[in-house]
Amino acid sequence: MTTVALGRLSDYEVGVPRSVAAPGRTLVVVRIEGSLYVLDDRCSHEDFPLSQGYVDVEAAEIECARHGALFSLVDGEPLSLPATRPVAHYEVREADGQLVVEVP
Ligand code: FES
Repeated sequence: MTTVALGRLSDYEVGVPRSVAAPGRTLVVVRIEGSLYVLDDRCSHEDFPLSQGYVDVEAAEIECARHGALFSLVDGEPLSLPATRPVAHYEVREADGQLVVEVP
């Protein structure tokens, strides 16, 4: 596992997805209120970057900009077609004063 530093909560604007490079993958990080949510930045339908999508802050969902599949930011599960497979998600924790995730 590799630890990826995400910085601080205040580095992120609420509801604005941001692409973050990590070893071997790209992540999409979304702030909703006091939490960060992290998924692979790759729609499970056709590998399109979810960071180009739209966030529903109240529902904690992200919509792929390519064909409109919805994913839960909480667990990466697909909530609408055309996606049928989940996107990997990562639990955020705090370490040494900043937010981090562990990626495989
Ligand atoms: S690439 Fe995301 S819904 Fe098709």
